[in-house]
Amino acid sequence: FSRLDVQLQEELKKTAEAILASGKGILAVDETNEGIGKLLKNVGLENTENNRRRYRELLFTTPDLAEHISAVILYDETVYQKTDDGTPFIELLNKLNIIPGIKVDKDVTALFLSEDEMTTQGLDDLGKRCAAYKKQGCRFAKWRCPVKIGLNTPSVRAINDTATILARYASICQSEGLVPIVEPDVLLDGDHDIERAQKVTEVVLAAVYKALNDHHVFLEGTLLKPNMVTPGQGCTKKSTPKEIAIATRTALLRGVPAAVPGIAFLSGGQTEEEATLNLNEINKVQGKKPWILTFSYGRALQASVWQTWAGKDENLVKAQKELLKRTKANGLASLGNYEA
Ligand code: 13P
Repeated sequence: FSRLDVQLQEELKKTAEAILASGKGILAVDETNEGIGKLLKNVGLENTENNRRRYRELLFTTPDLAEHISAVILYDETVYQKTDDGTPFIELLNKLNIIPGIKVDKDVTALFLSEDEMTTQGLDDLGKRCAAYKKQGCRFAKWRCPVKIGLNTPSVRAINDTATILARYASICQSEGLVPIVEPDVLLDGDHDIERAQKVTEVVLAAVYKALNDHHVFLEGTLLKPNMVTPGQGCTKKSTPKEIAIATRTALLRGVPAAVPGIAFLSGGQTEEEATLNLNEINKVQGKKPWILTFSYGRALQASVWQTWAGKDENLVKAQKELLKRTKANGLASLGNYEA
């Protein structure tokens, strides 16, 4: 029997706690080159390295960004990019007291002979990649495993696969000194109701934490990035933010150990305002709450930014104001203090 070096435990725990600074959350800008390419195309720009860099510079140079953002999730290319004046992005973020992290999964591929289920790739060389990112200044990582709700899914095989992969990922990250953000993403796609989403989320979380424990993952040095419990996008019976909040808090209480210091939700296709209102209600629910509950949004922090920027330099300041507006709203929601 062996356990993580005490000094390393302390470092991981401190990083996790710094990410969870009160009233702050995570800005997820880890879209793949293909993913951001679609967004660039929508604003009439080519998918070049420089255009991807320009967009990320817009985000990172937003005045007062650190007021409500404690950490950002980068994509590989961004780790090595610089601002127009030659400052490495990582140096800029560190100066702002924003912790840089990195998406380390290599996206999904079909789970063979399943009903449209997926598995996430990237474990093979993960240790080496984590060591290199750590050297560049990244202090945490993220890995997403999407889980699909269908008539007969998620299958037991897909649930076990997700749990084992997330546990191996978390263990490798910790061995290299990165805090793993564990992201089992029960997708919004489908017409299932909120009760089904809650049950599936509970089963997935239980499997994930069993596997993390089996792999001796130091839970105090991890974060969870889950879906909120909502009805499927195609479900005719809509739920109020309060109903979503109660279902989410119940599922988390049943599945997430209290040793986990914090939970930062993904937005998963919710609108900006929905993601904020739901987070706010989640924090307002009375009852046991052993973790900090905050945001790690991609789309729900950037939709208005893209719309306002529209790829034009003259809109940059206005676009940055939109980002600040969303980060502020979510910062307040992470304390249950947001008012629409
Ligand atoms: P969304 O908030 O857009 O779901 O993105 C967060 C994320 O990092 C997904 O992996």
